[in-house]
Amino acid sequence: MINLKSIKTRLFLWYIGSLMIVIAYFLLFIHYFTLPYAIHILIGIFIILAIAQFITLFKITKSISTLSSKIKLISSENLEEKITGTFGEDEIGELTHSFNSLLDRLHQAFKREQQFIADVAHELKTPLSTIKSAFEVALSKPRSIKEYEKVIEESIIETDQLSQTLKNILDLAWSETPVSQNNGKKFNLTELVADLYEIAQKLAVKKKIEVILSSAPDMFIIGFKEKLARVLLNLIDNAVKYSPQRGKIEIILEKSPTKALISIIDNGQGIAEEDLPQIFNRFYRGSKTDKVLGSGLGLAIAKSIITLHHGEMIVKSKKGKGSTFVVVLPLTS
Ligand SMILES: Nc1ncnc2c1ncn2[C@@H]1O[C@H](COP(=O)(O)OP(=O)(O)OP(=O)(O)O)[C@@H](O)[C@H]1O
Ligand SMILES: [Mg+2]
Repeated sequence: MINLKSIKTRLFLWYIGSLMIVIAYFLLFIHYFTLPYAIHILIGIFIILAIAQFITLFKITKSISTLSSKIKLISSENLEEKITGTFGEDEIGELTHSFNSLLDRLHQAFKREQQFIADVAHELKTPLSTIKSAFEVALSKPRSIKEYEKVIEESIIETDQLSQTLKNILDLAWSETPVSQNNGKKFNLTELVADLYEIAQKLAVKKKIEVILSSAPDMFIIGFKEKLARVLLNLIDNAVKYSPQRGKIEIILEKSPTKALISIIDNGQGIAEEDLPQIFNRFYRGSKTDKVLGSGLGLAIAKSIITLHHGEMIVKSKKGKGSTFVVVLPLTS
């Protein structure tokens, strides 16, 4: 159906009208002396077309200049504002609509970044002020060597946590910077998982957790080996952290026709249903993590590295029963 509100249709109709007037002009020219009022008809059609053209072009240029002057008023301070006005249902109305939804997406991204900076500042400020006040208290009066040692030991734990958080933030920044996956290299995933299995055993030894590996041979993928190792280590670290003494962790590497599936399964505390949709958010920590050190960045980093590799992460978990995290990555031949 012809949409008369569309600029394209209106211009097209005007173009057809102009063509017809040229044809009419020639026909009238040929029969000039035989047709009555020939010249009057021609002038009449010409005037109608000229008025139609003027109205169409005036409307188009007016809405374009209104739109452009409204766009000029938008800056990072008023991204939440929308472009309003009497834009019709034509292409300019459509452009305004698309521009408004772009503004909306930018505003959300801006808000997320601001929240992230606020969270980072908070995460760094807390351990720093804890260290500072511990030193101030220690210096407030003479103390025994034992007391000084205790303050230093506690501060070392805080600085470790601080540098871990900083490392996490840098990793997150890396994984969210657009890089081409073409820069990645082909590597043997089976070998990487075997190396990580050894690290997992070392991490688990303190809690006497048993780690089991079941792995398919020679699976190759293209990507950033160290970053993917980081993903799997974050998952293994969580499995160890959120499992009780003498728990059990399984690492399974499987092959589907075109994909590699790496599952990290634990029988630990599991994740509450209300926590599940949020665990991949930056700085989100579950409700039962008071005694466990962490900054809530591990899974956010893991997820964005996996997305960069065109993979996906699936989680299944039941409170009190344990959790399964599955990383799916495209294989290469
Ligand atoms: N295997 C797991 N078992 C139980 N809960 C988990 C598991 N993995 C993640 N979680 C929950 O998801 C939350 C987010 O995990 P994430 O790894 O992002 O942060 P974190 O472990 O708290 O801190 P970080 O990894 O930065 O040291 C955790 O706080 C925890 O509540
Ligand atoms: Mg973690």
